[in-house]
Amino acid sequence: MSIQFDTIIKGGTVVTAGDQMRCDVGIKDGRIAMLGHNLGHAQTVIDAKDKLVLPGGIDSHVHISQPSGEGIVMADDFESATRSAALGGTTTVMPFVLQEKGRPLRETVNDYHALAQGQCFIDTSFHLIVSEPNESVLGQELPSLVEDGYTSFKVFMTYEGLALNDREIIDVLDTARGCGALVMVHCENYDAIRYMTEKLEREGRTAPRYHATSRPKVAEREATHRAIAHAELVDVPIMIVHVSNRDAMEQIRWAQQRGLKILGETCTQYLVLTEDDLGGLNMEGAKYVCSPPPRDRDSQEACWEGLQRGVFSVFSSDHCPFRYDDPQGKLAPKGRTSFRWVPNGIPGVGARLNILFSEGVMKGRITLEQFVALTATNHARIYGLYPRKGSIGIGADADIAIWDPNISYTLTHDLIQDGSDYTPYEGFELTGRPILTMSRGKVIMRDGELVGDKGHGVYLPRARSPYASTVR
Ligand code: URP
Ligand code: ZN
Ligand code: ZN
Repeated sequence: MSIQFDTIIKGGTVVTAGDQMRCDVGIKDGRIAMLGHNLGHAQTVIDAKDKLVLPGGIDSHVHISQPSGEGIVMADDFESATRSAALGGTTTVMPFVLQEKGRPLRETVNDYHALAQGQCFIDTSFHLIVSEPNESVLGQELPSLVEDGYTSFKVFMTYEGLALNDREIIDVLDTARGCGALVMVHCENYDAIRYMTEKLEREGRTAPRYHATSRPKVAEREATHRAIAHAELVDVPIMIVHVSNRDAMEQIRWAQQRGLKILGETCTQYLVLTEDDLGGLNMEGAKYVCSPPPRDRDSQEACWEGLQRGVFSVFSSDHCPFRYDDPQGKLAPKGRTSFRWVPNGIPGVGARLNILFSEGVMKGRITLEQFVALTATNHARIYGLYPRKGSIGIGADADIAIWDPNISYTLTHDLIQDGSDYTPYEGFELTGRPILTMSRGKVIMRDGELVGDKGHGVYLPRARSPYASTVR
């Protein structure tokens, strides 16, 4: 008796983090029901001949609708960010809930749910940013939120109003150890950056390019080492996010070689941009202001090496979009007085996969299996969404991107369709792109056109990370 499927994806090469196989994919009720040949009948058959059938991307580091300082507005809400993600072959995003000081964290979590409710084209799940680790947050709020599926926190070692001191970081790590959460750490030395910023401003060096000068590699390397030391002390795994250069990458490799459970992430900007991009005329450089800043060619090589050798297990966008030509964005009046006030962050959720595929897979730097691991499977495994998400396996959600590896094209902002008015990757000549995105069995992008429904995306409470829960 042949099973009746809702959809069969036929004739493609299915790729997972471990294998490639020529087979058809049978989909029923939004899940992958069968892999094989001659699967029988389906209401819809999608021809994937000469195409790659990959798990939909998971981007575990994005910022959406996050408050960004007085007079500054993030360019994406949940509708526009998830639209852009879907167009780029991504089927799950993990944005951050930023704790507001003096307010119950649970209330802020509920606010973000309200912002996302009914707006998303793809599935979402929240991390928590801990900005005020007081007794009730550490003792009650975080453990209770972890129970409810918010199983990862981010802490900052820099940024005015967000930086935690060493004791606070250690306390958050200790709480995470107790309740099985995974902590993501932004590693830059706040005081070193303040010293550099004040010095540059005194010297009148205030253009966007000095953003990079103010945040040197050594400030990232030192903070990376310190975060690793804190994790070793507390005996808890951590994820070092958005690693930008060789020194920081080598700190992580050193820790891993010592047997410490230190995970690493790098992002698109560190592979293909450099600090020279911040040096554009007038305020053009503001388009590339993000932290840590893009560095130099050797840093790019080191980030590729980290991806190739498994020092980094995830590749994310750190999508943090502001419009450029906008007084509430990169051209905010205060930002013209100093790089210090230029809104910090760049868009990338829609371009992440295209760039890694073209620069990584098509240029022979990484294999297709590594691409899948780095952009989907490892995100699901590390952040507690596996095996429902992140792979093409029986019983998993049918979150799939069908790729044409042979299309060559020029990347432009109108292909990306996020809420910003530019992409830092404008004009990149790329090969290979997703031609169809499917979320839980429903086609949401076809040939670059969004065909999904706003509100289709659901919220995903997550299990504890298997990395973190083993230390309890
Ligand atoms: O510049 C960046 N990365 N902005 C987003 C906030 C962060 O640190 O991830
Ligand atoms: Zn960060
Ligand atoms: Zn970020």
